[in-house]
Amino acid sequence: MQKNTESQIESSLLLGGQALRKRFSLKYGWIFLLLAFCVLWVMFSNPNIADHIVAKLAELKKVPTTEALIPTTRTLKGPTEPPKPTSFCSFHSVLPEDALELEFLKNYITWPETPSVPDNFSLTDTSHAAHSTFTILPRDGGGSWHVGDQLEVLIKINDFNGRPKKSGGDVVFARLHNPTVHAGVVGKVFDHHNGSYTAVFPLLWEGSAQVEVTLVHSSEAVTVLDRVNQEEPGRIFFQSLFHSGSVTEATNCNVCLKAPPEQLCNFTDTRTREPWFCYKPKTLKCEHRITHAFKGYVPQPTAKEAKLFQSGVNLKTSIQSSEPSRISILPKLKVLNETVPVNMS
Ligand SMILES: *[C@@H]1O[C@H](CO)[C@@H](O)[C@H](O)[C@H]1NC(C)=O
Ligand SMILES: *[C@@H]1O[C@H](CO)[C@@H](O)[C@H](O)[C@H]1NC(C)=O
Ligand SMILES: *[C@@H]1O[C@H](CO)[C@@H](O)[C@H](O)[C@H]1NC(C)=O
Ligand SMILES: *[C@@H]1O[C@H](CO)[C@@H](O)[C@H](O)[C@H]1NC(C)=O
Repeated sequence: MQKNTESQIESSLLLGGQALRKRFSLKYGWIFLLLAFCVLWVMFSNPNIADHIVAKLAELKKVPTTEALIPTTRTLKGPTEPPKPTSFCSFHSVLPEDALELEFLKNYITWPETPSVPDNFSLTDTSHAAHSTFTILPRDGGGSWHVGDQLEVLIKINDFNGRPKKSGGDVVFARLHNPTVHAGVVGKVFDHHNGSYTAVFPLLWEGSAQVEVTLVHSSEAVTVLDRVNQEEPGRIFFQSLFHSGSVTEATNCNVCLKAPPEQLCNFTDTRTREPWFCYKPKTLKCEHRITHAFKGYVPQPTAKEAKLFQSGVNLKTSIQSSEPSRISILPKLKVLNETVPVNMS
């Protein structure tokens, strides 16, 4: 619907341009060009006018739907219309054909419940890489590893006192690799929700292969990250400057902001529908926006929570193997029951 209106506007502009060209003779054309150039030069040498044009163009871009032609204030405060929801981050604009994929992605990234992290939490009760271990499990059916087999690795997460964790939710990465032949494969990690995990690798090359397991985040860190994401979905914030005459104002901007629509400038892309908002400046108008910049991260974790994000301790830290972590992979076993053509003679 919106697309149609847009292309109609575009095509009528094109047709208008063609008609104009036909009606103009070459002689008048030169005078017209000269005049047009003068006007453009005057306009763009004056930044205020240029700003104004840019703002007007931005407004024009928003016009295509008839809905947008109704003044915003009326749409919002019309007595017969129910008030628009003041909820923020309403990302329910998923197309029906994308709903299934969205559901799939949501299920795919579902995370198990993680331990609560109260204000008085004790760091010693949380997952600690140095006290955690992994072991390569014997091959199914015994014997040597061959290309095409599956390798299973059992990972046990312990706390700072070496006590086994009783719940899951740690972010654990596992890889099998051989740097000398530039071979590597990522392991699929299964969470048993009791402090132990199994990583499963396909064996894809012959020769040596080394298992590496990394504690990316403790389950307690996941709890904190989850809470922070709920409180501040943006996590990082942006700022725009609004400028007109001698007045300059700055406000924060993001994909979603906690405010009713009338307190926001809506810079949502009308074509891609990608949302973008800034808080409305106090005195200036939305169209006075002149810059866009990254400003920082929110919120900062408390000093105590920060202890859950220590590089080399519980953030992206290697977990050691309790036994050798290297295996040798032999060539693929010949399939014994391979069908042989019968009438070969
Ligand atoms: C934290 O405080 C709660 C009560 O508010 C108490 O039950 C709990 O044992 C405390 N935890 C620690 C680790 O001190
Ligand atoms: C954890 O769960 C797995 C799978 O259910 C089980 O094999 C394992 O024995 C359990 N480990 C502990 C310590 O309970
Ligand atoms: C922002 O603008 C877009 C498109 O112009 C519109 O679809 C959306 O409803 C607006 N959002 C709010 C909160 O005003
Ligand atoms: C060969 O053995 C595999 C399992 O080892 C089996 O899945 C497959 O069906 C067998 N093929 C034939 C032709 O018997």
